[in-house]
Parts: sequence; structure tokens; C-alpha cells
Amino acid sequence: MLFNYCSKNNLPLDTLTINEINEQVLNKINEQKIKSLIIVNDDLNKICDLIESLKENVVIYTKYKKKINNILKERYTYQGFNRSVLNEVKRQMLLNLKPTDYVIDATIGNGYDTETLARLVPKGKVFGFDIQEAALLKTKERVSNFSNVYLYLMSHEYIDKLDYDQKIKLVVFNLGYLPGNNKNITTKSSSTIKAISKALNLLSNDGLILVTVYPGHEEGLKESILINKYLKNNNINYLIKRNTNKKEAPYLIIIYKNNN
Ligand SMILES: C[S@@+](CC[C@H](N)C(=O)[O-])C[C@H]1O[C@@H](n2cnc3c(N)ncnc32)[C@H](O)[C@@H]1O
Repeated sequence: MLFNYCSKNNLPLDTLTINEINEQVLNKINEQKIKSLIIVNDDLNKICDLIESLKENVVIYTKYKKKINNILKERYTYQGFNRSVLNEVKRQMLLNLKPTDYVIDATIGNGYDTETLARLVPKGKVFGFDIQEAALLKTKERVSNFSNVYLYLMSHEYIDKLDYDQKIKLVVFNLGYLPGNNKNITTKSSSTIKAISKALNLLSNDGLILVTVYPGHEEGLKESILINKYLKNNNINYLIKRNTNKKEAPYLIIIYKNNN
């Protein structure tokens, strides 16, 4: 969250001042790449609605910083929450994890999810998998300050090969390819489904799997169809979350260990 406090006579020049939140204002802020914003509306709930929709790099000037932070904490949301399905992934992590949990990041990539998980389970463990050395190196660097992360250069279809001394609370899959790297090195439906099935066996009774699917590219579309089929055919308890009705947009599948 990018917050700043400023007094009336100390306003930055490139800042847009708004007192009303509507679609038009939002588009203006996001499309014109406005970097900072002063909110003078006193309705803190409305301000929070707005903040949830703003790009994470927009700096917000408000004297209600503390109160706003408290409201967002209660909502389990934050700036940019409405803009990306990955924010829902984070929200699910926040909602479901406690400090002693064991978790798996099945596709570590650049390590953002691994880092979020490492923060959320300081007394637990994070096990991370990827098939690319570049991903392992990036993630290793990102989590170098954490001592609860264990990384493996190994396909997630073998996640059951490790000796976990505790049930796993949450497994996260962010499918597709590593942004900025070879797009041909992407997750494939057969190994993804094998891994999901094995992950289900490793979960505690209240455990869950978060799968972000990208049907916008060819392999991702195939993956999306086949994962869906697998979940339906096996009577698995799952929920689909979308933040847009565009068919090609990424979406989240939440898979629950328990059927009730
Ligand atoms: C979209 S990226 C993950 C992004 C990552 N979660 C982050 O926070 O930066 C997908 C990753 O899955 C990895 N991957 C592809 N097939 C895999 C497999 N069979 N097992 C584990 N990782 C795999 C790719 O190498 C890539 O790094």
C-alpha cells in the first residue's frame, strides 16, 4: 500500500484531487497513469472501495491512513485487490494460513508467491518446486532472509516424494510460463493434474489448493479444459473465482480437500 500524508499547503503538483468515486474517475486515474491521488471524501468505506481498484503504484495522500489500513485489514483487501486475480490468491492465503502451517508453492517462478507464503508461515515451512534453474535462483534470492523455505528443482508431479512431517495446509499453483523467459517452458495439463491429485493427498482436512489458470494461451486453454474435466469427473469440491467475464482472462480455482 502506497500511502502518504500531506497537509493542505503541501500538496504535490502532479496529483489528482478527487472527492467522488465513479467509473470515470477510476478510468482517468488508471489510464492516464496518474501516480498520486488525494482523497478528500470523508466516507472511509467508499475510499476503501476505490483503493481496492487502484493500481498498486498510485500513491494515495490522505489524512486517514491509519483508519483506512484498519478497514482494509478487516476486509482482507488492499490496494489493487480488484484488479488482479492474483490478489484473490493472496487474500485466500491470508484468510486460511496460520503461522505454523506447512505450505507448497508448486510453481515458484520469480518467487513472489513463495515470499508471501514465507511471511505468512514464519513458524511453519514452505516447500517450493520449479523445473527451471532460473526460477530457483530468482526465488532463492528473493527469500534469502527467510529460514523456513525449502526449494527443489523438480517437477511438481513429484511433490509426494518429499518426507513432510506435517500435513500440508495449502498448495498454490500459478500455471503457465515464467514471465520474461521462454514461453515454451510452461506447465502442461498431464503433469499439472497429476500434481493436483497428489497435492490433495498431502492436505490436512481443512486444506486447500489455489490454482491460477491462464486460458489466454494455447497450452493454458487446454490445461483449463482438462483440469475442469478432472475436477468434475472425480467429484472434487471446488470453486471458480473470476474478476471479469472475459473467457480468455486468468481465473482462480480453489480446490478443497473436504467435500462439505
Ligand atoms: C507463472 S510462473 C509462476 C509465477 C510464480 N508463482 C511467481 O510468484 O513469480 C509458472 C512457473 O511454473 C514453472 N513450471 C512449469 N512446469 C512445471 C512443473 N512441471 N513443475 C514445477 N514448475 C513448473 C515454470 O518454470 C514457471 O516458472
